[in-house]
Amino acid sequence: RKIPTYAPEAFTDFTRPENQQAMEAALTKIKSQLGRDLPLHIGGELIHTEGKITSINPGRTDEVIGRVSKASQELAEQAMQSALTAFESWKKVPARERAEYLFRAAELMRERKHEFSAMMILEAGKNYAEADCDTAEAIDFMEFYAREAIRLSETNIHHPLTKIDSEENMLTYIPLGVGFVIPPWNFPLAICVGMTTAAIVSGNTVLLKPSSITPVIAHMFVELMEEVGLPAGVLNFIPGSSAEVGDYLTSHAKTRFISFTGSKEVGLHINKLAAETAEGQIWIKRVVAEMGGKDGIVVDETADLDAAAASIVASAFGFQGQKCSAGSRAVIVESVYDEVVEKVVALTKNLKIGLPEENFAAGPVSDKNAYEKILEYIEIGKNEGRLVAGGAKAEEAGNGFYIQPTVFADVAPNARIMKEEIFGPVLAIAKAKDWQEAIAIYNNTEFGLTGSFYSNDEVRIAEALDTMHCGNLYINRKCTGALVGVHPFGGFNMSGTDSKAGGHDYLLLFTQAKLASRKV
Ligand code: ALA
Repeated sequence: RKIPTYAPEAFTDFTRPENQQAMEAALTKIKSQLGRDLPLHIGGELIHTEGKITSINPGRTDEVIGRVSKASQELAEQAMQSALTAFESWKKVPARERAEYLFRAAELMRERKHEFSAMMILEAGKNYAEADCDTAEAIDFMEFYAREAIRLSETNIHHPLTKIDSEENMLTYIPLGVGFVIPPWNFPLAICVGMTTAAIVSGNTVLLKPSSITPVIAHMFVELMEEVGLPAGVLNFIPGSSAEVGDYLTSHAKTRFISFTGSKEVGLHINKLAAETAEGQIWIKRVVAEMGGKDGIVVDETADLDAAAASIVASAFGFQGQKCSAGSRAVIVESVYDEVVEKVVALTKNLKIGLPEENFAAGPVSDKNAYEKILEYIEIGKNEGRLVAGGAKAEEAGNGFYIQPTVFADVAPNARIMKEEIFGPVLAIAKAKDWQEAIAIYNNTEFGLTGSFYSNDEVRIAEALDTMHCGNLYINRKCTGALVGVHPFGGFNMSGTDSKAGGHDYLLLFTQAKLASRKV
């Protein structure tokens, strides 16, 4: 079979009644499957434990999405042994064959797209479009990394060698070993699938510990990989607590790499633990960490102000601001400041809050901890800026973790709400005297993930491209919504280990290069 060129999956247009109805039908189907007990998957065995993680609908907290078994250290060890055994055969499977599992899984996921999205609407609180983008991205990751694995396996293609007459030389990328994969809840399908399949298709075996907030959608993915016949032990599913299972496997002598996406605090903790050498360990563990952001949009006086305001609102409040890419800051030059703030406030007040399955623009935040933390930040914001929209719980929206999309204006560059990641629907706006000062305020952060610059001045755009220090910089568009293959995604500084998910360098993080030289 000839593999077609990769192209991102198209998004679904929910203004078309047939698509709206298809999603409603998928929601009905998924709802009939809620509340089940789901097992661990270790070496092809399904294991039910007494202890369970209960996943609930954040938009209707009395609805149980599922009860997922919880791994202990003994079960984590059993999973490690299965992954070690499976690695011995999986590493020998040709890349093309490994890639075929991903192609098949992508095909099935595409066929059942709305079912995967419906599960995220119910378990993660995404609206239709956000869930649809998440599923599309999961499909894209599989399609993209499958092709990448094949490309990397074509000797000397990725890395051509200088020829000399007396030798034949060959560089190959071989897998690392057993990887511990810890994805986040905010892209509970896309990032879980991307991190897991990148590792697997490169020839590694995986211990997958999903977020305890969204283990059911992760389980749906694990079942899909079993359906396409992925050999037992290649992907082991072990939900569990960070303190018990997380630290145990991070410190384990046989863990070769840890692939993590989540908060800065947890990422730094993992990095520190992984740096210690356990007894019997014969490698330096590799840590791939994607962490937070305090991303922002800079607007100058030459910009299309309506477009800028719309992007500020989309970037700040898409999925309730719970994206590492979310534009939680805006920096606007003085001469157009009041006008842009006014537009932002009007658009924000227009966002209707309610149940994700009814497709409201704004839904609940992930869980009780996040809800309380975000409300605390809103109180901090009341002392640091001028509240111009929102500022409270949205209890009328339903029995869930609803918070009003909140905007603070006149926030100082060093205020906490301008510097700390809130991961919720809170936007801080600062005023700058000119575009240079605006860029300096944007750069006043320990993070470096995404940013946008709104301007119609080519000289300034060139300067912004050069000086705004972030992994994903956008001009005259929002700072969320990176597409696999189109916008390789990942940041600098405290945003992570400079990896680029959905880019041509990504699989190198899960392989090691071996040079073989033969005299002729
Ligand atoms: N990759 C996601 C985005 O760009 C986080 O919004």
